[in-house]
Amino acid sequence: MAVANIEMGLQLVFVSCLLMLSGCSSTSQSHFNKESYALFVFGDSLFDPGNNNYINTTTYYQANVRPYGISYFNPPTGRFSDGRLIPDFIAEHARLPLIPTYLDPRNKKFVHGANFASGGAGALVETRAGFVVDLKTQVKFFGDLEKKLRRDLGDAKCDQLLADSVYLFSCGINDYMALVGNNGSILYPHTHQQYVGMVIGNFTSVLKRIHKKGGRKFGVLNIHPLACLPNIRAERPGNTCNQELDIIASLHNDQLSNRLEELEKQLEGFMYAKFDINSEFSKRMKNPSRYGLKIGDRACCGSGPFRGIFSCGGKRGIEEFEVCDDVDDYLFFDSFHPNEVANAQFAEIFWNGNSSVTTPYNLKTLFQSKK
Ligand SMILES: *[C@@H]1O[C@H](CO)[C@@H](O)[C@H](O)[C@H]1NC(C)=O
Ligand SMILES: *[C@@H]1O[C@H](CO)[C@@H](O)[C@H](O)[C@H]1NC(C)=O
Ligand SMILES: *[C@@H]1O[C@H](CO)[C@@H](O)[C@H](O)[C@H]1NC(C)=O
Ligand SMILES: *[C@@H]1O[C@H](CO)[C@@H](O)[C@H](O)[C@H]1NC(C)=O
Repeated sequence: MAVANIEMGLQLVFVSCLLMLSGCSSTSQSHFNKESYALFVFGDSLFDPGNNNYINTTTYYQANVRPYGISYFNPPTGRFSDGRLIPDFIAEHARLPLIPTYLDPRNKKFVHGANFASGGAGALVETRAGFVVDLKTQVKFFGDLEKKLRRDLGDAKCDQLLADSVYLFSCGINDYMALVGNNGSILYPHTHQQYVGMVIGNFTSVLKRIHKKGGRKFGVLNIHPLACLPNIRAERPGNTCNQELDIIASLHNDQLSNRLEELEKQLEGFMYAKFDINSEFSKRMKNPSRYGLKIGDRACCGSGPFRGIFSCGGKRGIEEFEVCDDVDDYLFFDSFHPNEVANAQFAEIFWNGNSSVTTPYNLKTLFQSKK
């Protein structure tokens, strides 16, 4: 705990130094000026920094207890990992401070952006309705913030800020996971193709709404492999993978790629970076040691087979759970979510990756381009 405190302190000192530097040297070599853009974050538990602490939900959708956060945050913030998430590292790459949790009432200023993501949320309003902030509501909150920014900055400056800012999305996994039945069968009221079409359709509407408000630069994750997540295996008879989920994930990822290409042609100034987290995640599950990890098929924190029962923290109806000795070794911190080491690697590739994994641009290029 003491270590985490010191690290937080250092982090703050580090951030303030950077702010001072960029504040007094407009001729510095940096391409990144803290005033010129912000980062807005939307989606699910891969990105939620703790919004679910402030909504009427159950502890199932919260992660604000130890050992969550143990590698970086003290007290735990509600992030579903042992430490920082992908958007936290992206903010660092972009020389922005940690992007504030929108629903945390202590946060009043959002000059560097806001994080609206909510663990458990999907693109469809029905997905875990009543327990999460669905994507449409997240975008409504963004609209509220936009009005405030418009009042504070005036139209011209606000328009410039919105156009130069980056909008990050992790979305879709929960639409598919929410309908997995107790026996592992998938209970979609539609064909896979139709259901994926609805998810992508609703996601597209959200991108269009933000574009209409002046957003131009979008960073999007595709869906990582789902079939062999420790939780999926732990809850299936025979502890086998659920290949049907990966068939759906590939359908989603194909439709997503096509849709983004279409939007780039249709919408004025629309630019995007799509990170193929699917392939990067898959490589780490199969070959963890190649990426500085040791274990790619079991969770660090949880109970039951592969620590795949989602009990990490002891507040989800099961009090007893195990925690591994070395968090850094496990691709999966809990039965669904990657650890901080993997998140840092994913963010690095999203930021700086070549065009075979981050297409057609990477986030660095998006941030640097002037609209
Ligand atoms: C919170 O959710 C519970 C259970 O779903 C419900 O009974 C209660 O009325 C809700 N409270 C508020 C303030 O919405
Ligand atoms: C699983 O459950 C669903 C709905 O409860 C049922 O329709 C299906 O037949 C079950 N599948 C198996 C393999 O038991
Ligand atoms: C969005 O999802 C709803 C279900 O929540 C569905 O009825 C609708 O057709 C979807 N919209 C698009 C554009 O796909
Ligand atoms: C692109 O990046 C990926 C992931 O870092 C790497 O595996 C691949 O070899 C790179 N490809 C090229 C052409 O550099």
